[in-house]
Amino acid sequence: MKILVTGGLGFIGSHTVVELQHQGFEVVVIDNLSNSSEDVLDGISAITGKEPIFENLDLRDKKKLNGFFEKYPDIRGVIHFAASKAVGESVEEPLLYYENNLGVLTYLLQELKQKGNGNFIFSSSCTVYGQADSMPITEAAPVKPAESPYGNTKQVGEEIIRDTCNVNPELKAIALRYFNPIGAHPSAKIGELPLGVPQNLVPYITQTAIGIREKLAVFGDDYPTPDGTCIRDYIHVVDVAKAHVIALQRLLEGNNATNYEVFNLGTGTGSSVLEVIKSFEKVSGKKLNYNIAPRREGDVIQAYADTKKANTVLGWKAESSLDEAMKSAWEWEQKVRS
Ligand code: UD1
Repeated sequence: MKILVTGGLGFIGSHTVVELQHQGFEVVVIDNLSNSSEDVLDGISAITGKEPIFENLDLRDKKKLNGFFEKYPDIRGVIHFAASKAVGESVEEPLLYYENNLGVLTYLLQELKQKGNGNFIFSSSCTVYGQADSMPITEAAPVKPAESPYGNTKQVGEEIIRDTCNVNPELKAIALRYFNPIGAHPSAKIGELPLGVPQNLVPYITQTAIGIREKLAVFGDDYPTPDGTCIRDYIHVVDVAKAHVIALQRLLEGNNATNYEVFNLGTGTGSSVLEVIKSFEKVSGKKLNYNIAPRREGDVIQAYADTKKANTVLGWKAESSLDEAMKSAWEWEQKVRS
């Protein structure tokens, strides 16, 4: 059965392609290589023994996208990762974000509607909750006003899918709200490859440890948390990838409760920035060079998931610990720079 993975050469996309192939799916990847490289195909096939079909296509090209669905009429499901994700850049270039993340989403849904059937998995984010009023965060927590155009594209993206599914019962969709995916495949053959200076904590840590960055700045130690640093729910990317396959199977088998569903993907445990650093130092045996810096604008104090719905309804649970995730991130960083 053919499954389309957009953004399948990116960080979470590539790990999901691997898990799909492990489960026997035939994968077609669309990627425009804007934040990835064709070498990822080699990493995937080194793990699974099979290279996915690859189409280098920019999803904003509606004509080409239509041509793609004509070429592959037997696509049974779509996992949609392709999107821009830099919060700061989205503030500078809102139209780029709305076009890439929302324009493209409408094109894909139009294609699925035209096909008359569609099983659609959407990359959403815990950013939709903003600073939630209570922890852990359930899916019933209100969506708060977005802090950035990027965050807004995730909120509006969910609404576009919900509204479309409402009037097109042949379309079925699941939005997965990721907390903080980190780490790399345990084989160290695929992982996260941020372009330029990393914005996210874990690649910044590993790049500092390997000597590419001088020092990690810890953004604020005066938050109302036990050690004063922000708390997040860091989840191993392989666990995130596996959840996509389970969600897709739920739709393919018609086990969904309604034709639009939302699930949190997290571990249920919050870790502070200093705890992440400690975990890194433990698994790498290296001391990390860091200092305390001012708070970063837009950061929430804490966010960690209530995972009950995903555990009971999807039958999925994150299996890896923070230490395991940090170890895999470090092994990947060393492999990439060797
Ligand atoms: C960020 C985005 C979020 C997006 C997610 C996915 C912001 C405010 N949030 O989440 O919308 O969905 O990435 O890419 O950009 N930290 C440091 N030093 C650093 C980097 C990070 O102390 O150099 C701290 C941050 O203050 C935060 C934690 O590490 O407390 C995690 O940061 P990060 O990895 O950027 O993730 P989020 O901010 O949770």
